[in-house]
Amino acid sequence: MSAPNNAYDPVEVAVLAPDEVQQMLDDALRAIAAAADLDQLKAARIAHAGDRSPLALANAEIGALPPAARAEAGRRVGAARAAIRQTLAERQAELEAERDQRVLIDEAVDVTLPWDRSLAGARHPVTTLGERLTDVFVSMGYEVAEGPEVEAEWYNFDALNFPPDHPAREMYDTIFVAGRHGEQHSGVLLRTHTSPVQIRALLTRPLPVYVVSPGKCYRTDTLDATHSPVFQQIECLAVDEGLTMADLRGAISAFVEAMFGPGLQTRLRPDFFPFTEPSADVSMECHVCRGASTRRGGEPCRVCRSQGWIEIAGCGMVNPRMLVACGVDPDRYSGFAFGLGIDRSVLIRNGVTDIRDTFEGDVRFSRAFGMEA
Ligand code: DAH
Repeated sequence: MSAPNNAYDPVEVAVLAPDEVQQMLDDALRAIAAAADLDQLKAARIAHAGDRSPLALANAEIGALPPAARAEAGRRVGAARAAIRQTLAERQAELEAERDQRVLIDEAVDVTLPWDRSLAGARHPVTTLGERLTDVFVSMGYEVAEGPEVEAEWYNFDALNFPPDHPAREMYDTIFVAGRHGEQHSGVLLRTHTSPVQIRALLTRPLPVYVVSPGKCYRTDTLDATHSPVFQQIECLAVDEGLTMADLRGAISAFVEAMFGPGLQTRLRPDFFPFTEPSADVSMECHVCRGASTRRGGEPCRVCRSQGWIEIAGCGMVNPRMLVACGVDPDRYSGFAFGLGIDRSVLIRNGVTDIRDTFEGDVRFSRAFGMEA
């Protein structure tokens, strides 16, 4: 049972006496004045203006006073609390201003000091071109898909319809990863192309699939001006209902124009890849001479070796056998794919003749392509 309203406990309400309230106010003002920084002021605020502060507790006692005494006590406590709030706000402003002054001094920079003369690096052109190539596909609605560089042979070859002893496997001078017991045929290799990501994408993503996969690849090639055992490819795969070779051509032209300039012709010629049927190699009109070097009296062209065309990619319609290997119904879905070398594109785009220049780490090479953050 609660006590009746007029119950009056003289001990508890002693905190509302004028002297007591004045004492609380004095304590609070002293603590606020003594706060030397914002943390101390915060502590003073909690102690003297917080929910559990003496004045807040006193305020809660007002209801226990006889009605006649409440108004006066309320005014007294209210005035004390208002004074504290006001003083807190003023001290807060003072301390903030002090802090800002101090920061200006502490963090001042002497602009006359000699600067750090070590040269800033540049992002590598193979990296930046890889990102630009990827962006072209992303802007066409493709998603980025990645796969491991140490890959299972099944993804790199079998699922891509390379029969076990097919000579096509030899086109790919494979670096195998030795097994735990040193066995040569561990079934694990350094991926020889980015095409295994096609399999990974088809096995894990819902249809339709539109993916672009940039990444490093490895082959046993000996390093020379045009070969490197490590290189980067970018792969593009689309699997949907009703895709035809016209879609493949369209995607390739859009891509070539975005990378090398508008209006460049592309040409497909029959080729062979086990995972596409039919397969083709993609050439584009030379972006430097635009074929002029092939015409009578034309200047020779270093970039296309006066061929007028530059081979840039492999492509084709996804082989239905590959769709089946990935559990995709080839009667309902069809697809196209293409893949190209990123390092090679850097060479072509920039007229670099030696692939070794792209990874010898000489900053003069990167810098020549401009500094990109
Ligand atoms: N993976 C092939 C290579 O490394 C390139 C390639 C050809 C990729 C045809 C494709 C494709 O996606 O459809 O030589």
